[in-house]
Amino acid sequence: MQLLPTFDLILFGGTGDLAMRKLLPALYWRFACGQISSDSRIIGTARSELTREDYLAQVRATCETHLGEDFSEKTWHDFAERLSYSKVDAKNDADFAGLCGTLEGREEHIRIFFLSTAPNLFAPICEGLARHSVVTPKSRVVLEKPLGHDRASSAEINERVGAIFEERQIFRIDHYLGKETVQNLLALRFGNTLFEPLWRRGHVKHVQITVAEDLGVERRADFYDKTGALRDMVQNHLLQLLCIIAMEPPATSDLDAMRDEKLKVLYSLRPLVGRDVLAKTVRGQYKAGAAKGQPVVGYLEEKNVPPNSTTETFVALKVEIDSWRWAGVPFYLRTGKRLQERQTEIVLTFDDVPHSIYDRPDHAHALNRLVIQLQPEEYITLTVLAKSPGEGMHLKPVNLSLDFSQTFKTRSLDAYERLLTDVVKGNLTLFMRRDELDAAWAWIDPIREAWERYDEQPKIYTAGTWGPAAASALIGRDGFAWRNEL
Ligand code: BG6
Repeated sequence: MQLLPTFDLILFGGTGDLAMRKLLPALYWRFACGQISSDSRIIGTARSELTREDYLAQVRATCETHLGEDFSEKTWHDFAERLSYSKVDAKNDADFAGLCGTLEGREEHIRIFFLSTAPNLFAPICEGLARHSVVTPKSRVVLEKPLGHDRASSAEINERVGAIFEERQIFRIDHYLGKETVQNLLALRFGNTLFEPLWRRGHVKHVQITVAEDLGVERRADFYDKTGALRDMVQNHLLQLLCIIAMEPPATSDLDAMRDEKLKVLYSLRPLVGRDVLAKTVRGQYKAGAAKGQPVVGYLEEKNVPPNSTTETFVALKVEIDSWRWAGVPFYLRTGKRLQERQTEIVLTFDDVPHSIYDRPDHAHALNRLVIQLQPEEYITLTVLAKSPGEGMHLKPVNLSLDFSQTFKTRSLDAYERLLTDVVKGNLTLFMRRDELDAAWAWIDPIREAWERYDEQPKIYTAGTWGPAAASALIGRDGFAWRNEL
């Protein structure tokens, strides 16, 4: 594993949910694997008055929880020496002065400002850094999603951040792009000739993308209630997965080649506007039910959720792509919290045989399919019909499976480990370009506007189910079913 160049990583939102659950454990892993040099530094910042010891105690606790048996006293000791804490309130210039003082004399190193804060702080933080002249040519800024709450606010953030950092220095994260199976999906599509001729209309009947979570809103109700599933998940993760499935083969593996192709997909999405939105989307909100066999409260009873909130915790959509490759092939997307299982998968269902000379098993028309599962397991399965042993020609579905954990015994990198190392290396391929982000918001905004205009209330579903019945009807109207309903 290649040693990364020395860096200072300044983590804004350093005590937040993402920092604690993902970023700091990811940095610990990379350190444990010997990728982080001993003169690199990680500086957590947040608004609270904390001593370095307080902060270290929090980071240690989270690393212990997330690393489990892989946590080592010795590694922690060395890792902790790289860590410090600085109190920064983005609205307080004196705090910036304190933080910036700690960076002095290290201008020759890579400097990463990771903004894991509310998006309305992105521009003020960058402007604070610029006022204190700590943005060097070797600096990078990492912006966590969501970047704004609509197209206009995202444009404003991009404008203000862009006045301080050049585009090559701006890393807009969508951690789904860093997931191992997404990388494998690219390998599957562009490392083999097998699928390419079939990867289009005329062979693919429809595509499903499901990102189901069994968790509720956890500690993030404040953020989530203002955001909702459409902005939290669809605008970014689901659209990015759709782009990876639907894009044309990039000409090279160069930075912009893939981003150009993804952008073309976003431009080809048929706009969902006005009343069409009501026919092609479903909003849902969970009520009390069960998760993992235990009773759980409904969204409206969650801590910090207003009792009359109409925020959606579930969305399903029918998406059409106006391109030569995909015209007439519907893409069904759904995502939600407190669903029956944690499951992220992409399913391509292929056309049925034009004429069958054998008896067909139930659902035969939906069985020729490719399932790419990202979570909880990482595998790719191609289901085909084969003869079942014995007399007569009885066809049964069988799976040709590639299970990554069985095939490759090495631990795969968590998405944030990959993306953080890419930031240090300056590799932007897996990060969103400004025009991509803008195109995604331009497609999403009219959906939300139509929900507001027609007062589309969320449909209530019980926690622990697969979402509102209307989501089954959305796909059922076209004669298809979600894979879990077959
Ligand atoms: C985040 C969302 O971007 O992705 C969360 O803000 C969601 O609401 C999370 O829970 C899901 O990520 P993963 O990697 O656990 O599927």
